[in-house]
Amino acid sequence: MTDARMVGVSRVLISEEELRSRIAELAAELDAEYRNDFPIVIGVLNGAVFFLTDLIREMKIPLEIDFMAVSSYGDSTRSSGVVQIIKDLSKSIEGRRVIVIEDIVDSGLTLKYLIDNLASRNPADLRVVVLLSKWAIGQAPVQHDHVGFVIPDEFVVGYGLDFAGRYRNLPFVGVYDPKADSADLPG
Ligand code: PRP
Repeated sequence: MTDARMVGVSRVLISEEELRSRIAELAAELDAEYRNDFPIVIGVLNGAVFFLTDLIREMKIPLEIDFMAVSSYGDSTRSSGVVQIIKDLSKSIEGRRVIVIEDIVDSGLTLKYLIDNLASRNPADLRVVVLLSKWAIGQAPVQHDHVGFVIPDEFVVGYGLDFAGRYRNLPFVGVYDPKADSADLPG
């Protein structure tokens, strides 16, 4: 049976195996960095859920999780630049070590907004783990502490990343191809 999830995906950019292996490396780095600190890991809904759950299952230290939902893209492939909080954290982060988990940084507007917002709540410290970034560490317009993969400036989908709500359930990261997308898919 053909895989209907693939319609509109021109090629695989990062395979399941590459994701698994890099996420295990990131988990080991975080375990070493936060060994005795009981950090709060904050996932940015919706896209980062896939990365967060895979990452923390590879981590061996005690931790808590919480989530925020923000939206900047709507159904477009370009950021609107206007970030809205749709769901806030369920508890205070004051005095805690915070790890923010993002699936992708493109313009950096979403993450910049989040970091400023969370920093104003007085955490002990705040670090950022990004699975996919279009920017190398040190060149990004916003704080990145750990990056899974630096990717080219293409619109990517899968492993949590969507276009108009679709493609999140692909197990790999692929390049979205609007020309190949099919109007007769549901949704
Ligand atoms: C996506 C992604 C990041 C943001 C990155 O979120 O999850 O949060 O865009 O783009 P930027 O660096 O240009 O700001 P989106 O608003 O599409 O919500 P989603 O996570 O529910 O897909």
